[in-house]
Amino acid sequence: MERIKKVLISEADVKARVKALAGEISEDYRGKTVTLICILSGASIFFADLVRALDLDVRFEFMSVSSYGAGTVTSGEVKILKDVNHPIAGKDVIIVEDIIDSGCTLSYLKRVLEQRNPASIKICTILDKPSRRKVEFKGDYVGFEIPDEFVIGYGLDYDGKYRNLKDVCVLELTED
Ligand code: PRP
Repeated sequence: MERIKKVLISEADVKARVKALAGEISEDYRGKTVTLICILSGASIFFADLVRALDLDVRFEFMSVSSYGAGTVTSGEVKILKDVNHPIAGKDVIIVEDIIDSGCTLSYLKRVLEQRNPASIKICTILDKPSRRKVEFKGDYVGFEIPDEFVIGYGLDYDGKYRNLKDVCVLELTED
């Protein structure tokens, strides 16, 4: 069983931070077309908010990778379940994620995508748990650094649930 323990980041704070990140990205990529890769499913909500706040020409791509099972601990294994639809060679790419935890998923993915010779590749994540890293990895655009608690909402799930919550909340697993 599980219960929502508290709101960690409110909807209003998320909104303000997304706007600020979008402003930063729009400034950095001014005059360019950016290929944004949404990593399904967790990043879907953040992606939809971020792209609408960008003052840039953008292209959408979607990838699906597997790293977690139904539980709260990463398996460390990364598999590409769905790849991008168009080549990224010569493109300015931003990978959009909901969370960097162990860093395994993104360090693997970034390496794979770099081999395809994009003009540039950066990482944008709304949440970051630096204390959980198993591999060294840094996001280029980070919304919030958060403590090592299990978070849900704003795209993040527990066992497929809670992705549609507007706030980022801490989930508590209980015995009963
Ligand atoms: C989450 C998240 C990242 C990854 C981060 O995805 O969206 O892709 O885990 O963890 P890591 O830094 O330890 O590799 P998840 O596999 O839970 O899939 P989901 O996005 O579909 O919820």
